[in-house]
Amino acid sequence: MNLIKLNATDSTNTYLKDLERKTSIPDETVVTARNQLKGRGQMGNGWHSKSGQSLTFSMFKRFDEITAEQQFLISMAVSLAIVDVLKHLNIPNLSIKWPNDILSANKKVGGILIENVLQGRFIKYSIIGIGMNVNESYFSGLPQASSLKLQTGITFQMNDVLNNLIQSVFASLRIVRTQDFLSLKNNYESNLFRKEKVSVFENQIGYRFNGIIRGISDSGELLMEPENNSVQKFQTKEIKMIY
Ligand code: BTN
Repeated sequence: MNLIKLNATDSTNTYLKDLERKTSIPDETVVTARNQLKGRGQMGNGWHSKSGQSLTFSMFKRFDEITAEQQFLISMAVSLAIVDVLKHLNIPNLSIKWPNDILSANKKVGGILIENVLQGRFIKYSIIGIGMNVNESYFSGLPQASSLKLQTGITFQMNDVLNNLIQSVFASLRIVRTQDFLSLKNNYESNLFRKEKVSVFENQIGYRFNGIIRGISDSGELLMEPENNSVQKFQTKEIKMIY
């Protein structure tokens, strides 16, 4: 594994993307930043962490046989690998909020931003950005955010958490192609936040309604049953859960 440790950078995902444009990065390169200045989140959101108190890092993984349609495989494998590490650290009530927010007791402790680069119909490489709130104690204006420390009362060794996450995610990505899709999907669904519970959702025009998450489709859409309707597929842009 090739580890690049930076004191500061705008975004570790952007750093790896730019580096790969200039030179060919060795497979399984990781870049960490103690201070990420312009962290990027899903759907154009930002990602903020306090310098030295949380982990912000990106992992570079090459693939040769995963097609663009199978990209949710990578997302599931990464989320589950992270949950596995957090389980071993005894973080309580872990779940995955579709598509890949990592929650502990309804609070978001980790976020994942996966950027895939395609060659034809295949994924050539993925940049997997992970933000893990480790020892932060305050999340001003973010009532749904938390950290491993706030959830347990324990101050964690940042390097240990980082190494465990890196090992677990790469180990899982090395075998992702050969893994049985159904068992991965079953495992993902059994960790899915609010599955089989009535929840409130909001669509793109701000309309709120009740619905029940039933699972995910083979391409990673949310299978949700709106009240008085049959199960439908939703993409990330189309829906958000209010909780
Ligand atoms: C989200 O939940 O919206 C995803 C957040 C992903 C944040 C990580 S921090 C390291 C990497 N670099 C970035 O700019 N973003 C990801």
